[in-house]
Amino acid sequence: MHLPDLNIAKDRTSKENKYIELNENYSKVFKDKKYFLRTYGCQMNVHDSEAIRSYLETLGLTNTENINEANVVVLNTCAIRENARDKVIGFLGKCKYLKKNRDDFKIVLAGCMTEQPDFIDIVRKKHKYVDIIIGTHNLYDLPKLLIDSFKEQTIEVYSNSDEIIEGMHFERDSKITAWVNIMYGCDKFCTYCIVPYTRGRERSRKKDDILKEIMELKNNGYKEVTLLGQNVNAYGKDIGESFANLLEETAKTGIERIRFVTSHPWNFTDEMIDVIAKYKNIMPYIHLPIQSGSNTILKRMNRKYTKEEYLELFHKMKERIPNVSITTDIIVGFPGETESDFNDTLEVVKTCEYDGAYTFIFSPREGTPAAKMVDDTPLNVKEERLYKLNELVNSYSLKSNQKYLNKVVEVLVLGVSDKDSTKVYGYTDTMKLVNITSNEDIIGKIVKIKITDAKSFSLDGEFIK
Ligand code: 5AD
Ligand code: SF4
Repeated sequence: MHLPDLNIAKDRTSKENKYIELNENYSKVFKDKKYFLRTYGCQMNVHDSEAIRSYLETLGLTNTENINEANVVVLNTCAIRENARDKVIGFLGKCKYLKKNRDDFKIVLAGCMTEQPDFIDIVRKKHKYVDIIIGTHNLYDLPKLLIDSFKEQTIEVYSNSDEIIEGMHFERDSKITAWVNIMYGCDKFCTYCIVPYTRGRERSRKKDDILKEIMELKNNGYKEVTLLGQNVNAYGKDIGESFANLLEETAKTGIERIRFVTSHPWNFTDEMIDVIAKYKNIMPYIHLPIQSGSNTILKRMNRKYTKEEYLELFHKMKERIPNVSITTDIIVGFPGETESDFNDTLEVVKTCEYDGAYTFIFSPREGTPAAKMVDDTPLNVKEERLYKLNELVNSYSLKSNQKYLNKVVEVLVLGVSDKDSTKVYGYTDTMKLVNITSNEDIIGKIVKIKITDAKSFSLDGEFIK
């Protein structure tokens, strides 16, 4: 197969969107080809998958949910916990089977695992049938790599370029709510976490580029943006800017709803709290991971705050931001965690009565300091702690949801419910999921909903005309 050469690599820093040209040149080759995309992990990956999908569709590929029909399978991987790797390896086995005797079947690995040298070694040695490995820093090279791979050159890429490329427009999954990256990477080096190794150093996008993207979204009818970074508080440190300032200017664009994730408790400034409290279009919802309630464990995790400092910040938020809802992340079974350390975590949960919490058993990640720490707590003890923690956490989510019963709240409706096609779903300003008895007319709108039932993880409601 002969394909004309492509100049995308050298043009990629251009502000223009070069993928339009790609479409014209390559649509013949990819016209009848289908892709299957599987995404693991966090919002950053979900957002990266929007870019991947858009690049593939611009090449002319169409989506399929049936892997048996696919010509290109993309796995956007997550490295945060070990079981994610098992899932990907399992999936690769299936792909190997499908690829047998076919030269029009390509397997692409993307996402955080591709930035882990030990994983790359495993793929190189045991999964040689993988066609493309693309790092987290250079997704925009995917079209070129795919074209080359259909030219029958097997390519592997393992990139660590820290360059931020602007102007790579892509279709988003939703027309209502949009992720907007404000920075990449993380410099915090929590001792359990792989992210600083897979996503690299903190790099902020220029404020003007971010605001321009948000204005475009607003002009295109988007109702909500979520500013995205591993630790959004650190936004701008590398370019003489601040997150409080960015947040304020985002509020002034007039877009109806603004959210942001994730915030590290360590450098959440008073100025940030003031801005959140001041603007109605900044949603009163903060995800504030505590990870542990024990000062000994927090220190070993290199979290840079004590339980007391965390609680001071937490209470300040509750006092100053009307109706704020706060969720958290908690790890149980960190190396050396004693029963007393674990009880400290339970105590903090009781004090904070979180609106919700994501809970995890510690998973050692090769290359991180915590993976070398002595870990003598048996798995069954860790599982028991997780169970106990979840019971407590869920009781508080239920309690917080029950406060909404019979109240009328504003909900941004996002689409038809996955579980029940006669319902639609959306989120309150406080990020509560609401399943609504209504037809599809209210999708894309912020509407008043009367809450009729409250569960641990969602609310039910009725549309009020
Ligand atoms: N083991 C268990 N949980 C982890 N997290 C991050 N790294 C690990 C790990 N090695 C959790 C943290 C983080 C969330 C995204 O995932 O709680 O906030
Ligand atoms: Fe990982 Fe800590 Fe950075 Fe969060 S702040 S991404 S947990 S290193």
